[in-house]
This record gives sequence, C-alpha cells and structure tokens, in this order.
Amino acid sequence: MARKYMIAGNWKMNNTAAEGVALIKDMKAQCDGKCCCCENAPEVVVCPPFTTLSAVIAEANGTPLKVGAQNIHWEEKGAYTGEISGAMLNEVGVTHVIIGHSERRQYFGETDETVNKRVKAALKHGLVCIVCIGETLAERESDQTKAVIERQVRGALADLTAEDMKNIVLAYEPVWAIGTGKVATDEQAQEVHAFVRGLLKSMFSCPCVAENTRILYGGSMKPGNAAGLLAQPDIDGGLIGGAALKAADFLAIVKSVK
Ligand code: PGA
Repeated sequence: MARKYMIAGNWKMNNTAAEGVALIKDMKAQCDGKCCCCENAPEVVVCPPFTTLSAVIAEANGTPLKVGAQNIHWEEKGAYTGEISGAMLNEVGVTHVIIGHSERRQYFGETDETVNKRVKAALKHGLVCIVCIGETLAERESDQTKAVIERQVRGALADLTAEDMKNIVLAYEPVWAIGTGKVATDEQAQEVHAFVRGLLKSMFSCPCVAENTRILYGGSMKPGNAAGLLAQPDIDGGLIGGAALKAADFLAIVKSVK
C-alpha cells in the first residue's frame, strides 16, 4: 500500500479568525484542481490557533481540506489554565493535532513523557496525531542526532499498538532548520527519515507499521526546495510553517508532490 502524502500547514501563533478565513478563501480561489481540491491530491491539513479553528473549519467545509489543532492536553478537564482538552477539540470539529512541536519543547517545557500523554489522549479522542521530533544544532554537531531521534520516537510512541499507529504521522523537523531558512539537504533529511523507519521496524512486530507510517519533513520547506525533499523515498510530505501563511506558496508545495 503506497503511503498517501500529507502536506500540513502549521500556522503557529499567526492569523486571527478573519485572517485565517481570508487565507482559506485565497487557497480555494487559487486551487486549479491539482491541489487540495483534487481527488488524487495529497492529504492537505491546516493547523490554525485554537480561537481560529471554528471559522476556518466553516470556511473549509465542502472541500477536502482538513483542519487540525496545535496542541491537546491529556486530562479530560480540570484546573489546567490555558490548556485544551480532546473533548473541546472534538466539539469544534478538528481531525488532526500537532503534538510535541520543538517550540513547545523549547519554550513550554514539553518532554517526551508529556508528548506521549498528549498522543494517548488524542488517540482516545479519534484524532490523527502529527508528532514532531528533531535535533538541535548542538546535538547534530556533537553527533547525537540519531540518539536524540530514537529517544524522542520511543518516548512519544511508548505503549502504542500497531492499530494506534494508523493514526500517527511523524514529522522530522531539525530544530536548526525551523524558521531559519536553513533547510536540511535532501540527503540529510532522507538519512534521518530512513533511520526513523528502521526504528519503527524494530519497535513493532508487524512490518505494516514501518511501511505505512507517514514521516513528514519540516523546517524551512518552501516552493523552491519542496520537490527535492518530497522525492526522497522515505519523505511522505511536509509540515510547513512560514510558507503555509501564503496561499500561493502553500499550494506550490502541495503541487510539488509528484
Ligand atoms: P518553518 O516551520 O517552515 O517556518 O521552518 C516549520 C515548523 O515549525 O513546523
């Protein structure tokens, strides 16, 4: 079974509801049938801020565009100021959720353990998880990339079954490439993606997990470098930050999937 490509836009803390709706309108207007509105296209997801979700979901209604959140808390409810539960995400109607983005790990104390708790909560609520992993520049330069990636993958996926893995998408995002304009070369990215796929093979007895799990690349993916990255055998799509904020750039990346 061929893996279906996924192009996901991570809007981060950008776009009010009005701006988000305008961006979706722009995407719909610019789509020429070879992007998100076409049957054979990759799965296209946008992940706006929480307060923008319902307006974006309403605007995307009737198109194949899917909408995801940028975080989820592991508890059902309670005294967790500033957090959002799975039931709240179900109610608003998202289908996907980004978990463990490096900005959450760097600035908000996210750990492999909390990533795993959030993943389990998202699965319980029927959401597709886009789980982010990636090494810092210091880790790459001290030759720790694979050790860090292995720790993050094993931590995020602890206790998950092959059945659970049907709703997991991994996103390899080298921290040094996020928002910096410094993209990993096709070869650097492919090497880590192949490593992650090998890891999945060793972690799950069914070979279906390694074969079917999509591994996205993220970190300064742009229209100019997307085709090379997406042509790599173990790169199954992209998680796009800056370039997801402009309809033309995001759709050009979607169309780079061959
Ligand atoms: P970038 O962000 O495309 O702006 O580098 C990617 C991400 O953080 O998901």
